[in-house]
Amino acid sequence: MTATMDLMLPHIRGLKPFQGVDPMEVMARQAGIPPEKVIRLNGNENPYGPSPRVLEALGSFQSYNHYPDPEQRRLREALAGYLEVPAGQIVAGNGSDEIIDLLLRMFVGPGENIIIPSPTFGMYAFSAEICGGRAIPVPRDEAFEIDLEAMRLAITPETKACFLASPNNPTGNIATEVQIRDLLETGLLVVVDEAYYEFCGHTVIPLLREYPNLVVLRTFSKWAGLAGLRIGLGAMHQDLAQTMMRMKPPYNVNLAAEVALLVSLDDSAILLERLRRIVAERDRMMGLLRKIEGLRPWPSQANFILCQLPEGRGKEIFDGLCSRGIFLRYFSTPRLRDYIRASVGLPHQTDAVVEALAELVSG
Ligand SMILES: Cc1ncc(COP(=O)(O)O)c(C=O)c1O
Repeated sequence: MTATMDLMLPHIRGLKPFQGVDPMEVMARQAGIPPEKVIRLNGNENPYGPSPRVLEALGSFQSYNHYPDPEQRRLREALAGYLEVPAGQIVAGNGSDEIIDLLLRMFVGPGENIIIPSPTFGMYAFSAEICGGRAIPVPRDEAFEIDLEAMRLAITPETKACFLASPNNPTGNIATEVQIRDLLETGLLVVVDEAYYEFCGHTVIPLLREYPNLVVLRTFSKWAGLAGLRIGLGAMHQDLAQTMMRMKPPYNVNLAAEVALLVSLDDSAILLERLRRIVAERDRMMGLLRKIEGLRPWPSQANFILCQLPEGRGKEIFDGLCSRGIFLRYFSTPRLRDYIRASVGLPHQTDAVVEALAELVSG
């Protein structure tokens, strides 16, 4: 190790990388097929992409030579209309990932922790570790429901926050308002990540009026097809929002993302129509997966399905899919080693996934 590495903070030196999704070309090379043949359903992306008007607006926008507004005035005004929350309570981020990172840097220092019902989205633990803190995983019950009693017992004097995704990634189920209120009553910061809200319509945004310790996260990556442009947001008490606005990088949301968000909100009819198609396709996929003996797909309120595979065969089936150019999400954690998560794609992609799974499971 070089002497410079010795100077580095030890918890950063030892950081394990976040498992993001590989580019199409890398997947294609791995499967030995052309990139256009790859079926990429491992990132919960939107198969229809941005609205056509977004693509036009990005091409004709003339001011990319200017810095974006550090106060995010137009963005926050537009988001206030969308969320029905005052603009002063909203902060936009470079993806909701950035809001997660900012929240953890605001609340968690070395030796402190957050509570997460596991399994859940990996960024909470990853960002907590960057702060020198850690995430305490509290196992969900056998139906992947949050275990409130165990969560309360896991709280220590060093606990600052609790992070919940609703619907949860990768299990697809929501946290109920009763469960969320229960956690809010602990007085901890409670972050409810509604990245998949638009696929189910369940939100706790109205609770912002009652609880100053609530933060709700949303993203334009999923329903609006803007994952590659990186735009998400947090809605929270205005004191928190003001502090977050002071500490964020001044130009954190780039102008292309701003243009795309504003036009998406203006052109939401087409996006909502696509959303309905994705939800219908999810339900069709669920029906097809249920018919395959040996598979147990879990009900989902999001744009993906978590599917339980025959015992002991998770990795083998995942590898079999990859070699056919079908990339789903595999988790190597002990609890999920016999599960696979499939994002909802286009109908012909669903058919290919179902056919391959049927063959691999029976083979
Ligand atoms: C629960 C959850 N939150 C946040 C994100 C990240 O969203 P963004 O693209 O806005 O950073 C994801 C992405 O998969 C997710 O599953």
